[in-house]
Amino acid sequence: MNNFVLHNPTKIIFGKDTIKEIGPEMAKFGVKKALLVYGRASIKKNGVFEQVSASLQMAGINAVEFGGIQSNPVLSKVRAGIDLARQEGCDAVLAVGGGSVYDSSKAIAAGVQYEGDVWDFFGRRKIPAAALPIFGVLTISATGSEMNALGVVTNEDAKRKWPFTSPVLYPKVSVIDPSIQATLPAHQTANAAVDIIAHVMELYFDGTENNDVMDEYSEGIIRTVIKHAPILLADPANYESRAQLAWCATLALNGSNAPGRRGGDFASHGIEHALSAWNDIAHGAGLAIVFPAWMKYVYKDNPQAFLRFGEKVFGIIEGGEEERILAAIDALQKFFSRLGAPKSMREAGYSKADLPAIAEIAAGLGLLGNKKKLSQADILAILELAW
Ligand code: NZQ
Ligand code: ZN
Repeated sequence: MNNFVLHNPTKIIFGKDTIKEIGPEMAKFGVKKALLVYGRASIKKNGVFEQVSASLQMAGINAVEFGGIQSNPVLSKVRAGIDLARQEGCDAVLAVGGGSVYDSSKAIAAGVQYEGDVWDFFGRRKIPAAALPIFGVLTISATGSEMNALGVVTNEDAKRKWPFTSPVLYPKVSVIDPSIQATLPAHQTANAAVDIIAHVMELYFDGTENNDVMDEYSEGIIRTVIKHAPILLADPANYESRAQLAWCATLALNGSNAPGRRGGDFASHGIEHALSAWNDIAHGAGLAIVFPAWMKYVYKDNPQAFLRFGEKVFGIIEGGEEERILAAIDALQKFFSRLGAPKSMREAGYSKADLPAIAEIAAGLGLLGNKKKLSQADILAILELAW
């Protein structure tokens, strides 16, 4: 186990009927006027907007509405949010939505406090030194953004989808009421389940040895997702399964899964972000295509981890080493298909002629990966496997 520091300052309020807590929590930080960031339509249809508004009103906090954030959020919208927050003198940002809304809120919160262009922060070129305080009410559990210091935004002119991070981006408080996720369409629950598993695997397969406790923790999260996601596809309002999936999502990328590891691999994420930048595919759907292809490409460099994964997650113990590893990758892909996720780039509508350009986008931030570092040629080979 490698040395580590774990410091996550986000307060989580989890459970049924908890949205009413958000206003009082923000008032404890002295918030008077918040930019209320949200997506396209869901929170206005399912009653979440009313619940948030009532809580803010009770706490004496004014809200400036900023809706219309799209999935795979875009830079132009972030810039518009920064302008509005400045114009209105907002002293906090409140994200009411999923990863796209949270990530946009983080970029707006940092951008308001920065004199230059907010895009400077993306691709690890500059680290935000300050941000307005960020709060959130999570409406889809997938990315872990509610309890981490990461954001991902697409620069739609440059066709780049890049991450940014800074300790100032941890939300102060996030409310997670799993019951409000009952209105999610099945394909969004499926995308979420794939993303959660992918986050765990990015850390699990980074080449760290002798980290039994974290490996068991990771396998437990994956098995929980495999158990509960199919229940939710059949019964979207099943509260217990919603709660299990929601907490898995937060644990998968809030730092609790990282101690003692080598920082995660995240090559599959880097490649998927290029897929999304290219044609706006949903993040989870892109990962369902890319991750198994990445596994097929790299398993020979780290066979013990893949053998362990097959045994602990899918109970695969029969056969030779290679046979067991390929059976594990196949079992994972079959699970993603059972959720309704696409299996290949072809099925998702990409043209084979797109692959070199997508590989170039993915390689735009330098070598991807950890145990195995991937060049642009490696990425192209993975995309061909995903074809
Ligand atoms: O826009 P509305 O109408 O709200 O609909 C949303 C959206 O269409 C809908 N939705 C959300 N809550 C709902 C609901 N529909 C009905 N009922 C509800 N309760 O779900 C759709 C997807 O929302 P989105 O926020 O895009 O999903 P997700 O949370 O999966 O976020 C994806 C984004 O996060 C990035 C991804 O790349 C992608 O851009 N990621 C962020 C990370 C992070 N900050 O740590 C890490 C991840 O790896 C990921 O890259
Ligand atoms: Zn992800």
